[in-house]
Amino acid sequence: MPRPPLRRLLLLLLLALAAAQEQPPGAAGSAERRCFCQVTGYLDDCTCDVETLDAFNNYKVFPRLQTLLESDYFRYYKVNLKKRCPFWNVISHCGIRDCAVEPCQSNKIPDGIRSASYKYSEEANTSAKDCEEEERLGAVDESLSVKTVEAVRKWTRHDDAANSFCEADDIQSPEAEYVDLLLNPERYTGYKGPDAWRIWNSIYEENCFKPQSIKRPLNPLTSGRGENEGNMFYSWLEGLCVEKRAFYKLISGLHASINIHLSARYLLQDTWSKKQWGHNVTEFQQRFDELLTQGEGPRRLKNLYFIYLIELRALSKVLPFFERPDFQLFTGDKDRDGEVKSLLLEILHSVKSFPLHFDENSLFAGNQREAAKLKEEFRLHFRNISRIMDCVGCIKCRLWGKLQTQGLGTALKILFSESQIENMPERGPSPKFHLTRQEIVALFNAFGRISTSVKELENFRGLLQTLQ
Ligand SMILES: *[C@@H]1O[C@H](CO)[C@@H](O)[C@H](O)[C@H]1NC(C)=O
Ligand SMILES: *[C@@H]1O[C@H](CO)[C@@H](O)[C@H](O)[C@H]1NC(C)=O
Ligand SMILES: *[C@@H]1O[C@H](CO)[C@@H](O)[C@H](O)[C@H]1NC(C)=O
Repeated sequence: MPRPPLRRLLLLLLLALAAAQEQPPGAAGSAERRCFCQVTGYLDDCTCDVETLDAFNNYKVFPRLQTLLESDYFRYYKVNLKKRCPFWNVISHCGIRDCAVEPCQSNKIPDGIRSASYKYSEEANTSAKDCEEEERLGAVDESLSVKTVEAVRKWTRHDDAANSFCEADDIQSPEAEYVDLLLNPERYTGYKGPDAWRIWNSIYEENCFKPQSIKRPLNPLTSGRGENEGNMFYSWLEGLCVEKRAFYKLISGLHASINIHLSARYLLQDTWSKKQWGHNVTEFQQRFDELLTQGEGPRRLKNLYFIYLIELRALSKVLPFFERPDFQLFTGDKDRDGEVKSLLLEILHSVKSFPLHFDENSLFAGNQREAAKLKEEFRLHFRNISRIMDCVGCIKCRLWGKLQTQGLGTALKILFSESQIENMPERGPSPKFHLTRQEIVALFNAFGRISTSVKELENFRGLLQTLQ
């Protein structure tokens, strides 16, 4: 579809503005410029500029999203944190106090959420095991209308493994537990060093389409670090098709986002009487300063915006699914559920109105067979990454790692189910495209984390400016 001329003009104008602002390369900048030099103006592989996005996120999306994520529906996430790592023996970091996750007492979880998380399938009807589930549902049945139970049943019926970008936890497993995300915030835990590196390393090295001969810059686990590595890596990356490059950028953006949270909620004071978390500018600079990272830092920040745009696009696409009148954010508290759904739709409409969406049609748009093959490869790589999350030694980090990969996986699933969502009837039979509650909670919380990171950049920018 050709872009309307007005919008194209606007884009050109933005581009020109961005170019005008650019400073000569090599100019030794301030501390603030050394992190943010590339984070301005136009972004690669898409039609958006950073300034528009900052304003949109910080004032329109971020505040409302925070309110949404505090609701009961979105704060309780069911997750199996005891799964065995399928790839190597994990060194446990249970010893680090801040790594612990407190699972919820089941009486704290709203009934509606507990009952709705049981799986219903056609075959479930016949097997003996599911009588139990019927009974459990029966127990809730008294307080819920038949219609509600029916709606819940319909919306929790199946998960479509073939379309899924993540290996979802079996939430029926006795090991899966509800976690209150508000009580277990993502923040600095002290989990770092070789074990943490190993996780990211295997994600990048083995799961980003990268041949072994190409070395990723600044990898402490390989010998021989140097500028040349960076050059080789980026010329390799530029030579990739747009999809594979997108994959790498998504992972890098997620990594950057997690590091921003850890720098923004760093454990600054730890005495017997008081613990205090807050911004650690030094930590931020070590990860994002151009000089301290041999040029990597600003690229990482750019990739944060890339993942933001991808998730934003997915949210705008999935609107028809949430708009269906029979879709409920079901916790059992009817009035509150209605309010939360209104807020959700309000956010999604505002997301949809964002003028400079990433055009994912440029992904997988080539020859049909090629595209299908590539999409499948993409899916398998991503599923593998979701399994690597079970190898994270620090349980708190594992929780947020799993949630954020599942959220990103859900965003990808949405983007590649486009035709199914677009043709979704407003009413009538339950649609072919489906999201489980777990996917929905992960999708919005994951986007909440990326949105928080973009907002935090504003804070760090301010803090860095005061340094000089
Ligand atoms: C279970 O099976 C019965 C008869 O086989 C059918 O009437 C009923 O609708 C089924 N229930 C579900 C939940 O599929
Ligand atoms: C999945 O990840 C593991 C661990 O990094 C790796 O050994 C394996 O080759 C990966 N498989 C695929 C299909 O990417
Ligand atoms: C901030 O982080 C650095 C490491 O990046 C650390 O050495 C320093 O102690 C931290 N500052 C505070 C106040 O905790």
